[in-house]
Amino acid sequence: MEITKTLTTNPKPEPDWQNLGFGNVTTDHMFIMDYSEGRGWHDARIIPYGPLSLDPAAIVLHYGVEVFEGLKAYHTEDDKILLFRPQANARRINNSSKRLCIPELPEEYFVQAIKELVDIDRNWTPKLPDTSLYIRPLIIATEAQLGVKRADEYKFIVILSPVGAYYAEGLNPVKIFVEDEYVRSVRGGTGFTKCGGNYAAGLAAQYKAKQMGYSQVLWLDGAERKYIDEVGTMNVMFKINGEVITPELSGGTILPGVTRDSVLQLLQTWGIPTCERRITLEELHQAAQNNTLEEAFGTGTAAVISPIGMLNIHGQEIAVSNGQIGQLTQKIYDALTDIQWGRVADTLGWTVEV
Ligand code: COI
Repeated sequence: MEITKTLTTNPKPEPDWQNLGFGNVTTDHMFIMDYSEGRGWHDARIIPYGPLSLDPAAIVLHYGVEVFEGLKAYHTEDDKILLFRPQANARRINNSSKRLCIPELPEEYFVQAIKELVDIDRNWTPKLPDTSLYIRPLIIATEAQLGVKRADEYKFIVILSPVGAYYAEGLNPVKIFVEDEYVRSVRGGTGFTKCGGNYAAGLAAQYKAKQMGYSQVLWLDGAERKYIDEVGTMNVMFKINGEVITPELSGGTILPGVTRDSVLQLLQTWGIPTCERRITLEELHQAAQNNTLEEAFGTGTAAVISPIGMLNIHGQEIAVSNGQIGQLTQKIYDALTDIQWGRVADTLGWTVEV
């Protein structure tokens, strides 16, 4: 793929590296590529970051035809920039796209676009501990058409944002509210995709939990409100009686997280038993009451690992790991971030140098 490059003549001021937060700052450039029916994906370009021009009738603005991804670039101590498993995100965006009738994007275009954009803006990859460059690829349906239909025109866009911790708590355990009114997804729906609509549908529950003093919600299945799906915008794992259990993907209601998969692989290499299966809230509740629930944590690209210190189950507050970060949770966080920041040998072949 040929990418034309137009560099900015008006670079942005440096951000406050000590106080990045999450997603507040964007870099100097962005990648854009167009799709039109008959022509396919074309006109790959890196241009100065700025607003898009869209027809107000663009299908994405009305019917939410959009998919996105999230991955990160890490600055190593020896000044390399590493991406973490970008091919996994390339595969996943196509799985999301298929569900929303968006044309597939060749995986090599996805990875090349990211590599070249990150390279141009490499000085934006922060160097301080626990900071990284968040990469946000997205595809939107741009055809101007008010009828509900499969669009004939799209844009694939990549933007970058230097980030610190996703949650204000950082690696401190969070309080979770088990949500039994709103649901995030149902079998046959879009739960397994990374589409904007899933996140829009989650906002009401997120703010309800926040008002009650909880950081995130634990989502239950949409049909019976019985099985555990996810936590906030992350996958969830529980260590019960020495085994790490996480909801299975086969129902199609859960995002197949890259961090989820990486954690499962790490645990397997350490010989720690893991199990992907359906898990009921009742089982979790009982495990918490009889002290076999040893640890609980969320996994996601943005937060990496988010320990769960307390669960509110139907109004009853239950502490997990005495409200502390669990030993295994800490070990997973350390191992994963050591690979991501290139502090240890990448024996699993997960990192890609820019
Ligand atoms: C990620 O972990 O990359 C996410 O998708 C969370 C995000 C919606 C900010």
